[in-house]
Amino acid sequence: MAIAHSLCFAQAKGGVGKTSIATNVAGLSAAADLRVLLVDLDPQGDCARDLGYPRDDGAETSAALLAGTEPAVLRNVRSNLDVIPGGALLGDPFLDALLDNRALADALPTRLEAMIRSAGDYDLVVIDTPPGHTSLNRAVLAVVTTVLAPVRLDASSIEATNDLGERFAKARALNPYLTLAGAVLFAVPVTAHRLEADARRQLLELLGSDALVFRSVVRYGVAASKEARDLGKLAFEVDEISEGARVARFAALRANRDGSQIVETTRFISNAGALADDYHNLTAEVLGFMREQHAEFERASA
Ligand SMILES: Nc1ncnc2c1ncn2[C@@H]1O[C@H](COP(=O)(O)OP(=O)(O)OP(=O)(O)O)[C@@H](O)[C@H]1O
Ligand SMILES: [Mg+2]
Repeated sequence: MAIAHSLCFAQAKGGVGKTSIATNVAGLSAAADLRVLLVDLDPQGDCARDLGYPRDDGAETSAALLAGTEPAVLRNVRSNLDVIPGGALLGDPFLDALLDNRALADALPTRLEAMIRSAGDYDLVVIDTPPGHTSLNRAVLAVVTTVLAPVRLDASSIEATNDLGERFAKARALNPYLTLAGAVLFAVPVTAHRLEADARRQLLELLGSDALVFRSVVRYGVAASKEARDLGKLAFEVDEISEGARVARFAALRANRDGSQIVETTRFISNAGALADDYHNLTAEVLGFMREQHAEFERASA
């Protein structure tokens, strides 16, 4: 049985914003007082970069999935936010073990569900996956309720959603609770209105009438996103820190009007506020979609 209120990302292509969206949506939902579990199933373990917790080798997560042992759960990475960390051992050694042993591969969805349930009760579970179509990616689709497809505006990223409908239909046959919510446009240049409109039209055609292209987009912001990742902070946290620094700079200037002293305070090269706003809007839209979806299931099963 699928885990209620659980979200994953389906996209074969790498670098389309899965991790950035996973961590920012999870972090904002936690800041909005939902109890959130973020599960990183990527050998790259990039959620650690965005949230700034120590990197892990993924050994305990891998063992939980292969042998059914208890996973390591990092509690309170932020208030209301727990994390099951990813890491290198979820890469080739893990996938080889699955290839060599059919029974392990068949047990994977059950083990994944058990691992997530063992961490506790949450209002939202967000799963970050590596790019590609591995057995691990398929197992995720067997246990979640909601799938998002992040897409960049370039043709190859859009074309990569080509077979999403077909893969989704296969997954849906095994998991009737699964809904393909739709595409999220990622790294959108703010002035690229025509490009954005074209991408929306193409995606609606590719995804079919049941899925949507989310109104909220994540704008192009390579400096802000890099700065946030380098600091191990989410966009809204960098925005809060820079707002605090701005206030401190004013206070320092006021206290030093004659300019007799140079007062150093934190300065950021980027403006994370706009990016933070985008993630706020996207989080609200995704949570709204999931609430509706859950209510529909409740009505259907009443
Ligand atoms: N708003 C943004 N605008 C432009 N680039 C961004 C933005 N946010 C993040 N990036 C950059 O885009 C790259 C991919 O982001 P991210 O890691 O979220 O994608 P991913 O789909 O998880 O990648 P992978 O497939 O490697 O797991 C990163 O280098 C990141 O710094
Ligand atoms: Mg990633």
